[in-house]
Amino acid sequence: LIEAVGAREILDSRGNPTVEVEVLLDDGIVQRAAVPSGASTGAFEAYELRDGDKSRYGGKGVLKAVAAVIDELGPAIEGVDASEQRVIDEILIATDGTENKSRTGANAILGVSLAVAKAAADAADLPLFRYVGGPNAHVLPVPLFNVINGGEHADNGIDFQEFFLAPYGAETFSEALRWGTEIYHVLKSELKAAGYATGLGDEGGFAPDLPSNRAGLEFLIDAISKAGFTPGKDVGVGLDVAASEFYNDGVYHMDGKDWTPDQLIDYYADLVDSFPVVTIEDALDEEDWENWQKLTERLGSKVQLVGDDLFVTNPKRLAKGIDLGVANSLLVKVNQIGTLSETLDAVDLAHRSGYTTMFSHRSGETEDTTIADLVVAVNSGQIKSGAPARSERVAKYNQLLRIEEELGDAATFAGRAAFRRYKG
Ligand code: PGA
Ligand code: ZN
Repeated sequence: LIEAVGAREILDSRGNPTVEVEVLLDDGIVQRAAVPSGASTGAFEAYELRDGDKSRYGGKGVLKAVAAVIDELGPAIEGVDASEQRVIDEILIATDGTENKSRTGANAILGVSLAVAKAAADAADLPLFRYVGGPNAHVLPVPLFNVINGGEHADNGIDFQEFFLAPYGAETFSEALRWGTEIYHVLKSELKAAGYATGLGDEGGFAPDLPSNRAGLEFLIDAISKAGFTPGKDVGVGLDVAASEFYNDGVYHMDGKDWTPDQLIDYYADLVDSFPVVTIEDALDEEDWENWQKLTERLGSKVQLVGDDLFVTNPKRLAKGIDLGVANSLLVKVNQIGTLSETLDAVDLAHRSGYTTMFSHRSGETEDTTIADLVVAVNSGQIKSGAPARSERVAKYNQLLRIEEELGDAATFAGRAAFRRYKG
């Protein structure tokens, strides 16, 4: 039974405050969870409550969310069995009482929801992935390494936010991690040799001032080859365009030009033909449903089209997308929706509807590794947690190494099959 719930303000990887929650059970078990935070947030995400008091952390403090945990959310679940995750999440949602979790804050609610799950797993003497996923949880995901950072995550001129390496040709997760890391180091030398800066963006990727988005993909392909791998066969590439960030009034502003939706879709079709691109996220604006339909019709059989800002891990927005034939993959971010149960509902709906899923960190992260367990729990097969560098990014990959070791012979690496319907 839940005996007490505590919370504190800690710092995330960008030096911004965030919420950490601790749950104490009556048998003495204590577990904690920390909440991540985005920069290119979707307009329809659950509400992240910040203090707005300019005298502390420039208004970004989270003492109100911390107080909401201590004064309201915690007391509301005291005495409840920690294994009753769905009941607890419903209590948290009802205690907040708003549609988008804006009163107590989705950051407060998520911290409690995840800390409860960890405490319940501990009480059951199970690793979190096993507790959440049951005996069939066994698929290690393909890691999508974001090795070039642009958009809102870097101060360079690249419009696309993320450029991924997808080492799906490896035999195991640990081998994929090694491949991605080796390519990452080669990429650094190549950028340096070409006279570009090799400082890092928010997700640990390099942030060079490249002349175009296409140049980013060319550097990736070159680094894959120079590291001794075959582009397409061993390692694919991917993009998170985060197009909502450069969309205005029906026009996309990218690479210094204005693009109509049709022109942009042609541009993507050309990229998919020219490079081994296996996944493109948020290729269009989060409310441009009509053009999302066109894009999906045109490229949906060739490439994974992921909805992040589009779906915001929200079962209702995902259901709309499925109805309209929009995208074919769901990005999963626990803090976009705010409870573990709703996250798992969104994943279930995606999988039942033939959509793939990709679990995701946020650009503001902590040492918390919950998503590494969750991605294995639901056999998703894909995770993005940034570059293979910076401890808050690597923490998730390292946790996956531990899970792979724990599963032993039962572990299956998702590999190319994670992208089976698509090119590559
Ligand atoms: P964010 O970016 O965490 O800054 O929202 C990640 C993403 O867009 O996938
Ligand atoms: Zn995204």
